[in-house]
Amino acid sequence: MGCATGAGSLNVGKRGPGLAGCQSIFQETHRVLRLFVLLAGVTFLLFACKDSSYEVPQRTVPTSMLGEEQSQRCGEDLFFRMCQECHGTLSEGRNPRAERFVPPAPDFHEQHYSQTDPAYLYWRIEEGKRAEPFRSRGSIMPAWKPHLSEQQIWCLVAYLQYRGGQER
Ligand code: HEC
Repeated sequence: MGCATGAGSLNVGKRGPGLAGCQSIFQETHRVLRLFVLLAGVTFLLFACKDSSYEVPQRTVPTSMLGEEQSQRCGEDLFFRMCQECHGTLSEGRNPRAERFVPPAPDFHEQHYSQTDPAYLYWRIEEGKRAEPFRSRGSIMPAWKPHLSEQQIWCLVAYLQYRGGQER
């Protein structure tokens, strides 16, 4: 701390460049530290908000079914009939309508869907816009629970996981 006094810069000529160097290193370290603390704070806030905004209901995931071609096919068939009007076909990816919704309908070609928690996808299909925080955000995603069996929803999850990362 001793080298960072205001008088230091006035004495540069008498005491040589050592003091100025010491001061600027101190200022530089201070700046880097401040930036680090700021970044850490922002990261913490982002994670804190994400985690506390919803809780995915726990359920037993039929893992073997998810990787099966048969489930993926049955999911594709359902998706074609019930979901593509908003989410887009396999060839178009995300269709132009998807962009108009607020919040927009996601593009299921995105790579991360191949690894998204299946319980999360099930819950989102089952509850759609009825679940918070999606309801407050103005989501129009329909709740499919009244219209689809459990098995059909798992088929859709299998299809979404399969579609994640696929070429258009
Ligand atoms: C009327 C338009 C519409 C239809 C039909 C629709 N969705 Fe959606 N869906 C949306 C919108 C808009 C969002 C984004 C808002 C949200 O997350 O609630 C969304 C979000 C989702 C999400 C959450 C994705 C994520 O990353 O959080 C899943 C999963 C999903 N839809 C699956 C389906 C499936 C499966 C069907 C068919 C059974 C379907 N949707 C039918 C409009 C629709």
